[in-house]
Amino acid sequence: MKQINNYIDSVFQNKNELLEEVNSSIEENGMPSISVSPSSGKLLTMLISISEAKNVLEIGALGGYSGICLASGFGREGKLTSLELEERYAKLAYRNLSKAGFGDQVSYITGAALQNLEKLVEDNKRFDFFFIDADKENYENYLEYCIRLADPGALIVTDNVLAGGSVADQEAKPKRYTEIMKKFNETVANHPQLESLIIPIGDGMTISKVKK
Ligand SMILES: C[S@@+](CC[C@H](N)C(=O)[O-])C[C@H]1O[C@@H](n2cnc3c(N)ncnc32)[C@H](O)[C@@H]1O
Repeated sequence: MKQINNYIDSVFQNKNELLEEVNSSIEENGMPSISVSPSSGKLLTMLISISEAKNVLEIGALGGYSGICLASGFGREGKLTSLELEERYAKLAYRNLSKAGFGDQVSYITGAALQNLEKLVEDNKRFDFFFIDADKENYENYLEYCIRLADPGALIVTDNVLAGGSVADQEAKPKRYTEIMKKFNETVANHPQLESLIIPIGDGMTISKVKK
C-alpha cells in the first residue's frame, strides 16, 4: 500500500509550496503531523470540483491542509465550515486558509464535534459535501450526523478507513483504530441511505453518496 501510494504521489502530485508550508507550520507549532497525504488532498479538491459542491462541512481541521484542498475545489464560490476540538489548531488553520485566500469563506467552530453537529442540526443547516477526519471512535456518530445534515445526493468522504492496510492485511501492523475501522466499513457498506466505495489512496478514503 505504501509503495503504491509513493508511486502515485511521485507521478501525479505537483509540488505545492503552500501546502508544504502548512505542514511546516504544523510542525513548528508542535502539532501532530497527520494532515491528509498529498494525493488524498488532491482527490478532495477534485471531488468538490466534479460534484460542484458549494457548502462543505469538515470534521477535524488540524492546521488547515485538507481545508485548503477542499476550498481549492470550490474556488471563490463556496463556503467551508470546519469543526475542530482544539482552539489553537483552529487558529492556525484559519491563518493558513487566509494565506491561501479563503479567509472570508471559512468558519471554524471549536469544541467537541458531536455537540456542534447537534447544534447544526437544531439550526437546520444543510451541506452538500462532508469530510470526516477526526477521532475515529466517533466516526459512526459523525456519519449519522452528516446524513441528517445532507442535501439529497451529497457526498460524504471519510479518511483513514484502511488503517494503514491493517483492515485487510494480516501482515500489516495493526493500528489503534483497526477494529473500529473494520466495523465502520461494514456499517457504511450496508447503510441503506448510502452508496459507497473505498478508494485505496493515502490511508484509504470512503466516498459515500447520500441517496436522494
Ligand atoms: C487527522 S487530524 C485532521 C487533519 C486534517 N483534516 C488535515 O488533513 O489537514 C484530526 C483532527 O481532529 C481533531 N479532533 C479530535 N477529536 C475531535 C473531536 N472530538 N471534535 C472535533 N475535532 C476533533 C484533532 O484535534 C485533529 O486536529
